[in-house]
Amino acid sequence: MPDNFSDTPAALHYNLLGRTGLSVSAFGLGGGGKSCLGRKTGLSEAQSIRVVKRALELGVNFIDTGARNGTEGIIGSAIRGEDRQRLVLSSKANVSIGETLVTARQFAASIDNSLQALGTSYIDIMQFHGVLPEEYDYMLAELMPVMLQFQQAGKIRFIGLSEHFDRDREHAMLQRALQDDYWDVLMVGYNLLNQTAGRSIFPLTRERNIGVLGMFAVRRAFTTADAFRHAIAERIASGDLPKDFDVDTLLGQLSEPSRSGSAVTDTAYRFCRDEQGIDSVLVGTGDIGHLEQNIASFRRPPLPAQTLRLIEQSFGHIADFSGN
Ligand SMILES: NC(=O)c1ccc[n+]([C@@H]2O[C@H](COP(=O)([O-])OP(=O)(O)OC[C@H]3O[C@@H](n4cnc5c(N)ncnc54)[C@H](OP(=O)(O)O)[C@@H]3O)[C@@H](O)[C@H]2O)c1
Repeated sequence: MPDNFSDTPAALHYNLLGRTGLSVSAFGLGGGGKSCLGRKTGLSEAQSIRVVKRALELGVNFIDTGARNGTEGIIGSAIRGEDRQRLVLSSKANVSIGETLVTARQFAASIDNSLQALGTSYIDIMQFHGVLPEEYDYMLAELMPVMLQFQQAGKIRFIGLSEHFDRDREHAMLQRALQDDYWDVLMVGYNLLNQTAGRSIFPLTRERNIGVLGMFAVRRAFTTADAFRHAIAERIASGDLPKDFDVDTLLGQLSEPSRSGSAVTDTAYRFCRDEQGIDSVLVGTGDIGHLEQNIASFRRPPLPAQTLRLIEQSFGHIADFSGN
């Protein structure tokens, strides 16, 4: 396996994904988000395929995508010829398109398309995509029977649910979902400036052995020091942080020097990686340089306890933030 990181000897960590028993890399490659593996940032198909292949070369075994991301075919091409059993694939089907709820027939067609585009006879985790609280009951009544049929047919192994974090920042939908016992895996928004899942979601997922995938670890807010300053300025304006909050001193305290790339990005990913409630942190990128930097971050040691304390003390009370 090619490896340019001989100065960071630690291997990528693998975690058990809750009750699924699947072993997943703590770094999960995200096929959606703002980059969609480069589909939204101008890469050619061949370049996007290269991003996926590079992640596999560096030890990533978990890839997430979704019907709406337009990357299932890219991933299908990238994994052709790989040992399928070594890989854990996750995809998602929409519960609504715009304001319109999908029918059971549309939902089934979406899963069939995902299987075909990924070029696989089974998907390890199939999720309901970005579900809003008001969609939950419809989804259970009309679409869950379809999901269960695919599972019984052996075409999906485990059932998951992702939230619409930007519109549901305190996890109302997932709190409702945790009253039911359908869920093998949940996809949860969590980052430096929104740690609410640590209180309302992770204690229950751990108690019930539900696998957790983290999203929004970096998003837009933690891509650069300037983006972080902007996010802090917004939190000051909203009253979440005091007017005299000293962002530059904090940035200096938070960021250990990283060999390349943004120190705030390094800290943001490692903060989520170190959260015990998260089994795999999804990293969305269409940039091989970023991919390599981020994998190097995931191979670094845990953040120091004093850094974690500082993050919790400074931002642990903030709830109205996604990172978009
Ligand atoms: N509701 C849902 O189900 C849902 C919603 C959102 C996301 N997701 C899943 O979660 C995955 C991750 O999405 P996310 O938005 O949470 O990803 P993220 O990793 O938190 O943020 C990705 C963004 O950060 C940038 N970035 C990554 N590494 C960087 C680096 N080293 N330096 C500077 N910028 C960097 C990327 O741009 P570059 O391309 O330039 O690197 C991209 O714009 C998605 O791919 C998808 O699988 C699911």
